[in-house]
Amino acid sequence: MASSESSRRDVSQSRSQQLAGEAIPLSGPLTGVKICVIGAGFVGCVAAAGFAKFGHTVVCVEKSPDRLAQLKDGRLPFYERDLEDLVRCNVECKRLSFSSQLEDAIEGQEAVFITVGTPSKQDGRADLTALEEIVVTLSERLQPHQILVLKSTVPVGTARWLKEILRQNRHGDNTVPIISSPEFLREGTAVYDFFHPHRIVIGGDSPKAIQVISYIYRMGMTNPVPIIITNNQTAEMIKYASNAFLAAKIGLVNELAKLCDSVGVNVMEVARAMGLDSRIGHEFLNPGPGWGGSCLPKDLKEFLGLADSRGVSLSILQAVKQANQEQLDYVVSKVKRLVGTVKNKHIGAFGLTFKAETSDLRDSPAIAVVERLIDEGAKVKAFDPAAKDEEVRLLSKAQLVRSPYDAVRDADCIVILTEWSEFQLLDWKKVAKLVRHLNIIDARNILTPEVVRGYGYNYLSMGQV
Ligand code: UDX
Repeated sequence: MASSESSRRDVSQSRSQQLAGEAIPLSGPLTGVKICVIGAGFVGCVAAAGFAKFGHTVVCVEKSPDRLAQLKDGRLPFYERDLEDLVRCNVECKRLSFSSQLEDAIEGQEAVFITVGTPSKQDGRADLTALEEIVVTLSERLQPHQILVLKSTVPVGTARWLKEILRQNRHGDNTVPIISSPEFLREGTAVYDFFHPHRIVIGGDSPKAIQVISYIYRMGMTNPVPIIITNNQTAEMIKYASNAFLAAKIGLVNELAKLCDSVGVNVMEVARAMGLDSRIGHEFLNPGPGWGGSCLPKDLKEFLGLADSRGVSLSILQAVKQANQEQLDYVVSKVKRLVGTVKNKHIGAFGLTFKAETSDLRDSPAIAVVERLIDEGAKVKAFDPAAKDEEVRLLSKAQLVRSPYDAVRDADCIVILTEWSEFQLLDWKKVAKLVRHLNIIDARNILTPEVVRGYGYNYLSMGQV
């Protein structure tokens, strides 16, 4: 009792320091914690390799035999900058291993992080089947005080629901704490983000478990990081609220770009000046074809679904979702401004992934624009530096070509849809000799208008004069 009192005091004492963003020095010799990470997807691999780099001993569980074989071989089943090296070097120094044996893998571990996917169901709500299956499978094997940590993005109320499942399957025993600790990693910069987080969120009601999880993160952090200690529901909400805000911020700058187009003002200058106000901030103010990817669209749907189920109207976020769809039409309308009808026109599409530095095509606005053009009769040849052939074929009717120059041969219009730096570095004079008409829609504002116009192109971008 006394020790739980004092650990509660420790937690609340440190809370004010942590919220103020101060580093809390760890004293004494640091010993790694034994960790299991379940799910070797993007989040799981980054977390597993990152924790191992901190000095913890990590076993990462993956049930797909193909993925597992690749990982054991030191190869990543997907592209993420710097991650393969991080995985390989931690495997080599034996702090990281991979396994398919879920039940054996949790044995003796102090913390079990769950990082499995929570994709959208038909109705837009998050599908928690994989998560539920794992918790049910482990419920009788977990030892008291082994800590379950939810790192997957899960709807508000999930930890509470899982606690109840555990309690029932353990015949009323509730000695296994559940911590909610969402991740905020961006694809393409996930390794950097892991080691340089803006904040770490730890939600739960067991002071002891909160301390252990906080120690796991703090052991590897060289810079001060605010650690937000809160309850499970708030931690879950923070994740969705953050992504909703980011979607709204991008949505707003996309709308500003439209208005700037119509009044002849440069949105990039406007955004730069706005961003210098620290209340606004300069990040996420780049106009584009809309936000996409594996998180923002899915999480916004879940958030809106939650609000709907509670009879709460989130009219701003509804509008953000709607505006993001309209943004796709806005890009298509720009193509039409240059070529008239798109029927039978040859379009060279640059970029299919949802943003640069990733091979991820999930909910990609680039694919959505290309499909709209094809549906209206355009013939699209697309080039992307990272998209995989077989994945593109499942999602798009565009012809994927091997080089940007192949994509533009005889094109009536080039549409830049992903901000890969390759496109900035392209020989645009050479491109001018290959195309049928000198038209560019730069939906990412990555080219310099005066330069490309100087080569004779008709150039339209998003909100730049
Ligand atoms: C996002 C969140 O940033 C991250 O914190 C969370 O954990 C997962 O979801 P990610 O999906 O990797 O990360 O992509 P992000 O960099 O956030 O971009 C999302 C979408 O917004 C992309 O389609 C991107 O192109 C678009 N975007 C982003 C813009 O159009 N303009 C911007 O200024 C920023």
